[in-house]
Amino acid sequence: MTIEYKNNDSFIDGISLKKIAADFGTPCFIYSHNDLVKNFSEIKNVFASEKRKVFYSVKANSNLSILKVLLELGAGFDIVSLGELERVIKIGAQPEKIIYSGVGKSEEEIIRSLEYGIHCFNVESFSELERINSIATKLNKVAPVSIRINPNIDPGSHEFISTGVETTKFGINLKNMMDAFIYANNEKSIELLGIDYHIGSQIESLDPFKEAIVSVKKIVDQLKENNINIKLIDMGGGLGINYQNNDAPSLNDFGKTINQVINDNELSDYDFIIELGRSIVGNVGYILTSVEYIKKDSEKNFVIVDAGMDNLIRPALYDAWHEIKPITDNKEQNILCDIVGPVCECTDFLGKDRRLSVQQGDLLIISSCGAYASSMASNYNSRPKPSEIMIKNGEMHIISRKEKINDLFSREIIVS
Ligand code: LLP
Repeated sequence: MTIEYKNNDSFIDGISLKKIAADFGTPCFIYSHNDLVKNFSEIKNVFASEKRKVFYSVKANSNLSILKVLLELGAGFDIVSLGELERVIKIGAQPEKIIYSGVGKSEEEIIRSLEYGIHCFNVESFSELERINSIATKLNKVAPVSIRINPNIDPGSHEFISTGVETTKFGINLKNMMDAFIYANNEKSIELLGIDYHIGSQIESLDPFKEAIVSVKKIVDQLKENNINIKLIDMGGGLGINYQNNDAPSLNDFGKTINQVINDNELSDYDFIIELGRSIVGNVGYILTSVEYIKKDSEKNFVIVDAGMDNLIRPALYDAWHEIKPITDNKEQNILCDIVGPVCECTDFLGKDRRLSVQQGDLLIISSCGAYASSMASNYNSRPKPSEIMIKNGEMHIISRKEKINDLFSREIIVS
C-alpha cells in the first residue's frame, strides 16, 4: 500500500490522482491490481497445497473484476447469497470451488446451489440442515455440508464483528452441535464433509486462531468417539489489516502459524479451507474525494467532502478509523477537524478530530477502502454509486461505472 507524493500530486502505481479525479470525477474508488495480486500470492505461497485451499470471502468486495483476478490466481469463493453465487458463476468459477455460508439460506438459494453443484454448504442451524436435507431429497441429490460450530472464542475485535461468541446468531453451539453432526452423518441426501467456524473479523492477534484450532481438535476427537469421520476443516476468515498504528500479522505470518498449529495438533491429514476477505482486498483500495466546503466553527471545524457514509459506512457503524490525507504533501497541519460527508445524518463522518492542511477544492485520499466499503455502499439520500477504477500495468481501467441519476429510480413504478 504505497501512495507516492510528487510534483504537488499523489500517485498510486504510477497513476496521478489528479488525473483520476479529472477523468472519472469524485468520489471514486481506486484499486491497485498489483497489491491485490501481491496479497493473494503471499498467502497462497505459504498456505495453499493439495490439502490447503485459500477461498476469498466475496462479501468483502464483490466487484466482478476483483473476483476475476482472484479466480485467475487460483482462489475459491466463500459466498452468502444468490447474488454472490451468480457473481462468481458469471466470472467462470467452477461450482466445486464455491462454499456457501450464512445463517439464512432461502429455499431458492439452496436449490440453485444444488443445481450448480457447489462444494459445500456451511450449515448454521439444525433447521437449516433439515431444510437442505428435504430439498436435496426432493431433487434427488446429495448435499455436501459442513457444520458451522460456534466455538465461543472472543477474537478481541469490535462487538459487531465478533461472530465466534456464543451470544451471536452464528453457528451451532458446542452443546447442540453433536445432534447436527449425527443427523448429517445419517441422512442419505446429505454428505457430511466437515466442520466450519468463523470467529470474527479484523482479528489482530494470532492467538484466537490458534485457540480455535485447538478447540476443533477436541471436536474432531469427540466425533471419532461417535464414529463420525470428517475430512474437511474450514477455519473461516478474519485476519485483520493495518488501518492506523495497529500491528496486524502479515498474511505470511498467519499462513505459517496456521500450518504449524495444524501440525502440532495432528490435524495435517485433514483438508483445510481459509476464507479470507479483508486481508486480501482491504489495503488494495482507496476512495478519492474532493473538499466541497470548509466550515469553521468555534466548537469544531468541519471539512465537508463529496464522499459520505453511503460510500464508506465503517466509521459510522464500527467507529472505524481510516487514514485520510490530502494528495499534496503539505506537512503543515493547520486545522483540527472532522471530515464529514454530505449525507443528512450525524453519523455521516469519515474521520474525527484529525489534523489536516486542507482547502476548499483539494483532493483527499482515504486509505484501506478495498474491503467492506463498496460492497456495503448504499444509495441513501438518493446518491448514485461512484465509479470504481482498477490500476493495472500502469493503466486506469473502469471496473464499475458511476451510476446515473436515472438508475436510482429505474426499478420504481409511479402508481397513478
Ligand atoms: N467467512 C465468513 C463466514 C464470514 O462471515 C466472513 C466475514 C469472512 C469469512 C471474511 O472475514 P474477513 O477475512 O474479511 O475478516 N463489515 C465488517 C466486517 C464483517 C465481516 C463479516 N464476515 C467491517 O467492515 O469490518
